[in-house]
Amino acid sequence: MFLIMVTKENALQRSNLLNVLWDIQRKRRFISRDDMKKIAKEFSISMIELEGVISFYHFFHLQNAGKYTIYLNCSTISQHKDYQAVKKTFQDELGVLIGNVTKDNLFGFFKTSCIGLSDQETSALINNYPFTNLTPKKVKTIISKLKKGQSLESLSNYPKDNIKYRPEKDAKTIFFKTYTKGEGLKQLVSLKPEDVIDLISKSKLSGRGGAFFPTGMKWKLCRNNKSDQKYIICNADEGEPGTFKDRVLMNKYPGLLIEGMTIAGYAVGATEGTIYLRAEYLYLKDKIEAAIKDFEEAGLLGKNILGLKGFDFKVTVQLGAGAYICGEETALIASMEGKRGEPTTKEYFPVEKGFLGKPTVVNNVETLCAVPRILEMGLDNYLKIGTKQTPGTKLLSVSGDCKKPGVYEIEWGMKLKDFLNLIEAEDPHVVLFNGFSGECLSEVDFDREISGENLLAEHIQFKFNDPIEYSRKMSGVGLRSGGSFMVFNKKRDLIGILKNITKFFVAESCGICVPCRTGNFLLNKKINKIMFGHAELKDLEEIREWSFIIKQSSRCGLGKTSTNCLLTAMLKFPEEFKKHLTAESNFNHSFNIENAVENYNTIIQEIESTYE
Ligand SMILES: Cc1cc2nc3c(=O)[nH]c(=O)nc-3n(C[C@H](O)[C@H](O)[C@H](O)COP(=O)(O)O)c2cc1C
Ligand code: SF4
Repeated sequence: MFLIMVTKENALQRSNLLNVLWDIQRKRRFISRDDMKKIAKEFSISMIELEGVISFYHFFHLQNAGKYTIYLNCSTISQHKDYQAVKKTFQDELGVLIGNVTKDNLFGFFKTSCIGLSDQETSALINNYPFTNLTPKKVKTIISKLKKGQSLESLSNYPKDNIKYRPEKDAKTIFFKTYTKGEGLKQLVSLKPEDVIDLISKSKLSGRGGAFFPTGMKWKLCRNNKSDQKYIICNADEGEPGTFKDRVLMNKYPGLLIEGMTIAGYAVGATEGTIYLRAEYLYLKDKIEAAIKDFEEAGLLGKNILGLKGFDFKVTVQLGAGAYICGEETALIASMEGKRGEPTTKEYFPVEKGFLGKPTVVNNVETLCAVPRILEMGLDNYLKIGTKQTPGTKLLSVSGDCKKPGVYEIEWGMKLKDFLNLIEAEDPHVVLFNGFSGECLSEVDFDREISGENLLAEHIQFKFNDPIEYSRKMSGVGLRSGGSFMVFNKKRDLIGILKNITKFFVAESCGICVPCRTGNFLLNKKINKIMFGHAELKDLEEIREWSFIIKQSSRCGLGKTSTNCLLTAMLKFPEEFKKHLTAESNFNHSFNIENAVENYNTIIQEIESTYE
């Protein structure tokens, strides 16, 4: 299942470095100094540069990570389920604390951030095989059977799709209605590339990866750049905590994605497409590759597709190696080129200079899957669904305190309160909308609709200091989401959730800009201070000030959004912060360690002077 084909022809291209590292990691369970020397020589790169690449990715290890490498999801939703008990059982059964490897190198036990299974927590990956709904009893069985030599494949459980809702009528469903292979693709027979771009522009399809850039415009920009080679990349990195709709789409209809990529290739003049699949979804790779093969055999991929002369397109899968930042498109491209996944400055956009310096379209899984459906159903029918600015439907990944976690396909325009009813939210208090880089919604937002209508510029949204002014100005403003929807009831500790969020950004910042690297670290310390009841009002002011500095001076979207939840939580739930401040706690603020030991110091000095 897990073998990557490293052939002689592709072995030494730098863009194959990640695959080579994966091969070694999987066989030996780490990448040794000797391996590194050989790789550095073969790829003509320095040892320092190579170490920089290896150490960038969570799933590559420089020391033995155990024959069975366990990654337990430590993200908020997991913490609210059985994380603590499951962690303790793993530790007891293995005899090591989290972050360590057993003496016999049989098991390595590590924590990881969200692995795209928030609807079936507590979850873990063992050698990238998924294990969901873990309980202490299940953990004991798994470890005991592994010790007896049972295979991982037989023990792991393939994640459920959990598709909980789609619009009642098929005519209003875009993604999860019946799929017939090639139905969208074959519409190309009567369309020129420019017609396709025009159609997608008119559909107002915009990026579902979270940035909502108009897809038609992106394709047009790429088409207009002359080049001997262009690329289509599908961003299947889905690292935003709480999101898992791309996993479900790829599992249910991999063909729909292949068609979307092929249509994109036809429209912009690209002949190669790559699905950059997060390593946490390795278990999907076989299925996607089988679908690719099936398409090739049916003449729907390869040369002269659909009999159209010169319409050539191929699709491959590139595995990531565990780094949230690699979802950012320029970091993703760097990763595909075998480098550290660091975002570039925005001197060029990928449509100008992308993968290997060639014009490249990067699109999210959901964006690409919408494309064949639009062609299949026709523009007029598509525009009848959703709202004026955001036609169509949206996939939301739901987790947290509700009776029905899973994936929902809703028509854009549904009110937030109706959505909360649909998922059977239990006493909803805080909604983390759009993941850790999104925002905290409270009761004042429940009347707003999920759509792209009446949007305000982002800098206005995060500038409010007064909750009343906020609700007055934002009441008619739509809520746009990349897909993550986490709901929490009143019993959940908001500061604890924020601690998990700030910790996540400390771990996931690529570190290239100082404000993002240091700022997120300092904010995490501030949250700890609040939790311990040691913070004052001044600390809250500093959090606000520093958050804006990080926002304004960071190179990429990670730094620009990492403080959104914190800022919106402070605005909408001031009482949650206030109850932790020193004035409200029994923290003795007047205590001063130097004053307290002053007399003792005097005695010591006197004794010392007596003996001089
Ligand atoms: C830190 C960070 C992480 C991101 N992660 C993802 C991701 O996992 N999937 C995704 O499609 N887009 C992600 N994006 C957005 C991509 O940079 C890019 O906008 C998107 O892939 C473009 O596709 P779209 O226009 O179809 O949304 C991320 C952006 C940032 C700043
Ligand atoms: S903002 Fe953060 S993640 Fe983005 S480039 Fe700068 S340091 Fe890296």
